[in-house]
Amino acid sequence: MGGKRILLCIGGGVAAYKCLDLIRRARARGIAVTPAMTRAAAEFVTPLSVAALAGEKVHQALFDLTAEAEMGHIQLSRAADLLVVAPATADLMAKMAGGHADDLVSTLLMATDKPVLIAPAMNVRMWLHPATQRNLATLRADGVHVVGPDEGDMACGEFGPGRMAEPEAILAAAERLLAPKGRLAGRRILVTSGPTHEPIDPVRYIANRSSGKQGMAIAAALRDEGAAVTLVTGPTNEPAPAGVSLLRVETAREMLAAVESALPTEAAIFAAAVADWRAAEESGRKLKKDGSGAVPDLKLAENPDILRTISGLPPGRRPALVVGFAAETNDVVENAAAKRARKGCDWIVANDVSGGVMGGARNAVSILDASGREDWPEMGKEEVARRLAARIADWFAAETASC
Ligand code: C5P
Repeated sequence: MGGKRILLCIGGGVAAYKCLDLIRRARARGIAVTPAMTRAAAEFVTPLSVAALAGEKVHQALFDLTAEAEMGHIQLSRAADLLVVAPATADLMAKMAGGHADDLVSTLLMATDKPVLIAPAMNVRMWLHPATQRNLATLRADGVHVVGPDEGDMACGEFGPGRMAEPEAILAAAERLLAPKGRLAGRRILVTSGPTHEPIDPVRYIANRSSGKQGMAIAAALRDEGAAVTLVTGPTNEPAPAGVSLLRVETAREMLAAVESALPTEAAIFAAAVADWRAAEESGRKLKKDGSGAVPDLKLAENPDILRTISGLPPGRRPALVVGFAAETNDVVENAAAKRARKGCDWIVANDVSGGVMGGARNAVSILDASGREDWPEMGKEEVARRLAARIADWFAAETASC
């Protein structure tokens, strides 16, 4: 990474202290860091520490005459190969989404023509607030790359998504953006993974055996080919790959909403094992035995079909390539072909789940598309993912060539 330069815009949040580690790691990898801080950021971490670690002056004020004489903010934002905003607070994200430029950092972000990576960090309620999610969708649509946030204990005492991604993950995402481009560089791709949990009452839910392994491996393989990946995952114990934008959901309806918020993307891979049905009515209280031997009359309702919904979007909104999965226990290929037609997706990855595929490490799949069928031998899920990512890259290369 020698010779590359990051303009690091530090926002005003508790996570600002992690920027010191980020700067140290970046420089150890040969990446120069130009630091800029908001006024609030200087309340959380001292400009002196930032400057000492960066080995460079910290830019703080918009109307700093010396700096303007030396280098205007336009030049400053363009002299870098990548802008990294960490922590990206709710306020900073709102400013970026709204196109504000009322201090140095927001002005640098408006003036740049370079890729921008944000590492959001905020209280979980602020993160989940519709305004923040709306701003996030706007930023994504503007081509801004997002890393994190992670889920965990927060400084404010709450638990949930909102913790800034760790410096190593931010750096990994930055390095991917700085790296010589892969075959899917610049492509935005959505992946779903895992099962969904459909609540019956506060303690019970309907689920399936999906581990999320295959979907996560696909997200990592696409990332390795240079794509900007958004991974929407249902509940899983599988660690999510670093350097992808992660959206965690529980239910099918939440998954559909998250998928829609991640659009537009150029491809979408639906590897999640979405529950077909949910309890028609979720009980607010735990269902109890009443001693009479009567069992609850559990009524089911059909979940939205995410794959079919997205496949049916109008051109422009619909990803150019939509890939569905078909987990079958019998007549695998026939059922998968029918599913491809029914759902309106471009490819179907079919697998036989009558053995230990769900939750296991290996998979044997067939790919069905408009031109026919390809059977792959049994292999590890990572290898299936790598091959699928390569096939997707081939598809884009052929598309580009034919345009
Ligand atoms: O209908 P079936 O569940 O077998 O179809 C599997 C494919 O459809 C997978 O790609 C899965 O992610 C997707 N699916 C979906 N929404 C549903 C059910 C399945 O997107 N409600």
